[in-house]
Amino acid sequence: PQRPILIQGPMPIEAEKFAERLENVEVVTSGSTYEFYIGTVEGYPVIVSKTGKGMANTAAATAMAIEKYNPAAIINQGTSGGHDPELEVFDIVLGKRSVSVGALKTGDLKEGAGIEPTQWKPMDLMASEGSAGEDPNAENIRYYDGDEGLLAAARTVKDTHTEGKVVEGTIGSADVWNNEVDRIKWFHEKYGTSVEEMETASAAQISAAYEIPFLGIRILSNNKTNNGAYNPDTAAANQDYVYEVVKEYISSL
Ligand code: 5AD
Repeated sequence: PQRPILIQGPMPIEAEKFAERLENVEVVTSGSTYEFYIGTVEGYPVIVSKTGKGMANTAAATAMAIEKYNPAAIINQGTSGGHDPELEVFDIVLGKRSVSVGALKTGDLKEGAGIEPTQWKPMDLMASEGSAGEDPNAENIRYYDGDEGLLAAARTVKDTHTEGKVVEGTIGSADVWNNEVDRIKWFHEKYGTSVEEMETASAAQISAAYEIPFLGIRILSNNKTNNGAYNPDTAAANQDYVYEVVKEYISSL
């Protein structure tokens, strides 16, 4: 049998629009919250996974989907907040790379010496099996590369997204919503982030552990760096684009 393409979206508004477009759908629920819409696109098996928000839900939903459905490729998609002032609400970032911006080690400060977030260092939890707190090799930023085959399909259908531009960049993920523009700039400069959200790097990490081609596709729903106001309609526009990417990818298989 053909291995399915897995499309992940965290919130109902980020998954249901795509799920509605599947043919022959069967809905399977794992636990109380993890929904899988198992269907087809033009006859090819595609599964939409409503993961819930955040790194832990996403890691769980990704591992579950891999173990249960053996996907050929995984796309994590949804909304994000801009870190790059050149990007506007409705622009889409293809995750050439993704990175956890929540894995950090603080400086060594005594009682009364305060809290110094700009001195925090990146921490790579996958650097070794030893203590990430003690290992100097763990003081590194770990990037996960987007899959070239998925990127190629996404590039091919770029022009179908008419509400904004489609660019390639770095998606930063953590269970944090940053509204401090100086902190956003710190990540943009130190990690090269184009956008932030709360899922992609988690799904990328699990996909890498199972060697499954992966790509994050994130539309800006807001951008603090240029006063881009939050617009929830971006979630649907992203799913429309990702639907085109999936059709293109399937035709390349
Ligand atoms: N910061 C963090 N997460 C964001 N999301 C959209 N914009 C942002 C932002 N600026 C997404 C996350 C999560 C939900 C809160 O919306 O991925 O699923």
